[in-house]
Amino acid sequence: MSKDKVQIFDTTLRDGEQVPGCKLDTTQKLIIAERLEELGVDIIEAGFPISSPGDFHSVSEIAKLVKDVTVCGLTRAVKKDIKVAAEALVHAKRPRIHTGIGTSESHIKFKFNTTQEKIIERAVDAVAYAKTFVEDVEFFAEDAGRTDNEYLARVCEAVIAAGATVLNIPDTTGYCLPEEYGQKIKYLKENVKGIDKAILSCHCHNDLGLATANSISGAINGARQIECTINGIGERAGNTSLEEVVMVLRQHPNLNIDTNINSQLLYSTSQMVSQKMGMPVQPNKAIVGSNAFAHSSGIHQDGVIKQRETYEIIDPKDVGVDQSSIVLTARSGRAALAYRAKNIGYELTKVQLDVVYDEFLGFADKHKEVHDADIHQIIEKSPVDIVSSVPS
Ligand code: KIV
Ligand code: ZN
Repeated sequence: MSKDKVQIFDTTLRDGEQVPGCKLDTTQKLIIAERLEELGVDIIEAGFPISSPGDFHSVSEIAKLVKDVTVCGLTRAVKKDIKVAAEALVHAKRPRIHTGIGTSESHIKFKFNTTQEKIIERAVDAVAYAKTFVEDVEFFAEDAGRTDNEYLARVCEAVIAAGATVLNIPDTTGYCLPEEYGQKIKYLKENVKGIDKAILSCHCHNDLGLATANSISGAINGARQIECTINGIGERAGNTSLEEVVMVLRQHPNLNIDTNINSQLLYSTSQMVSQKMGMPVQPNKAIVGSNAFAHSSGIHQDGVIKQRETYEIIDPKDVGVDQSSIVLTARSGRAALAYRAKNIGYELTKVQLDVVYDEFLGFADKHKEVHDADIHQIIEKSPVDIVSSVPS
């Protein structure tokens, strides 16, 4: 049975680039956009064209460059924004305007100082105006995570009637619990008239570390687009991480939902974005962190050396990492030392290993990590005679 597809809407170049210090120039953005297309994303949110001439230029160049991907430009629910976005997208083969407005009580009261009905009017006007330029119009209900479901359903119904093709339900402040966010999507699926004419989209922020869980919960409950970024970068604690949602869906085939992503490009894409943005990837980051496939405790190492699946649910090759690594520390056991010694040419007998292991522990207790060169020295200095199979 073929799986349901969730569209991957990558906003690395828009929400991701909002991170202080992560600004990119047009050339860097073009390189990343090309890579995102190769990776298999369905939509690239290329920027917020009215925000600066530089961003306008980047969106416009990306629109000319990519072939098979929808290119999207962000706008507020403001005519001038929408017109400028349409101009930036004029060369796109598949242009999308992403417009919207805050719908939560606090946004309506404090940001706009207006009423719920007036917000609906502005939302409808923005979508209708965007439709005069492009067919594909996505509407975002900012702070939908904290918006009352009944009112949110009314907003969605009104913008669908005005022509919205995608309804973005952002958990802008990263507030929702996965169950709550999933129920919100379910509620909209069941209560919005005309919902079959639009795709529901998850856009979750990571303030409580729940962005990926919330997006998956949204997809389980009927959303068919997930907005995410490479390495999960984005405002404050970031957005949903692209690599995480892709691999959650791959590792759980029973969900019967998949994406078009070529997962073998995930690691190199993560590295590319990290380097271009000057934003290091935390070592324990799921899927793409440097420790994601590294094993350092003796119990785990012994298991992984016997059978990789004992402590790894993902084959590192599936995400473009050559192999798992056995990291030697003072918590490592004999199996790991023998394994690493073998990799550099020493086949240790049991007696030799016992002797070298004692020396190794003495060294490891004084160092954070033991590298190949250290193992080599420990073995060469050990009181037993060990011959390397690698000519020195
Ligand atoms: O987090 C958010 O609500 C956004 C919107 C502009 C889509 O980024
Ligand atoms: Zn956002």
